[in-house]
Amino acid sequence: METPTLLSKRLRLRPILIDDVEFIYELFSRSETNKYSEYPDLKTRDEAVEMYDKFMRPGGESRFRVIIERLGESIGTIGMYSNSKDHKRAEIGYDLMREHWGNGYMTEAVEALVSYGFETLGLERIEATVDPENGASIRILEKNSFQHEGTLRKRFHYKGG
Ligand SMILES: CC(C)(COP(=O)(O)OP(=O)(O)OC[C@H]1O[C@@H](n2cnc3c(N)ncnc32)[C@H](O)[C@@H]1OP(=O)(O)O)[C@@H](O)C(=O)NCCC(=O)NCCS
Repeated sequence: METPTLLSKRLRLRPILIDDVEFIYELFSRSETNKYSEYPDLKTRDEAVEMYDKFMRPGGESRFRVIIERLGESIGTIGMYSNSKDHKRAEIGYDLMREHWGNGYMTEAVEALVSYGFETLGLERIEATVDPENGASIRILEKNSFQHEGTLRKRFHYKGG
């Protein structure tokens, strides 16, 4: 599917290029980024290239991921996956560099992506799964009018729990 470029009040969301692999490494080698994710911290640049090829390179069939830029600086990523045209639904995921937490940037990026999903892609449902301990992420979803539909017990196993 097409990887969009989206603008919001303070942010630019744009396709991820191979030149962004150093940023991808920086973001996903940090344990605070991956704390609530099944993915282990990246250890090498080669792992970052592998991640890029698998999940971020434009041209994915049912997914896309974009870099979040603030004043030209890469500060995070956000994306859509499991996009089903038949069922008009998709899931979203996002990660921000710690030094930019607490400024409302991800709330704004989610708003831009959700609008794109409903208005441009014609989706009728957008899902997110979040660790019950990830309070900031839950708040972002609430502020974007996501509704809590259930708790998926034993749905994921990661980081020893
Ligand atoms: C989740 C993440 C993007 C949040 O970033 P952020 O910069 O704090 O997000 P925002 O500033 O847009 O919004 C956070 C909101 O949660 C609130 N919040 C922060 N920490 C919280 C906590 N522990 N419990 C409850 N609410 C919390 C903030 O006050 C803010 O709400 P407010 O605007 O009503 O005050 C960031 O922590 C991150 O990238 N974490 C690692 C990756 C990750 O967990 N991704 C999501 C996986 S589902």
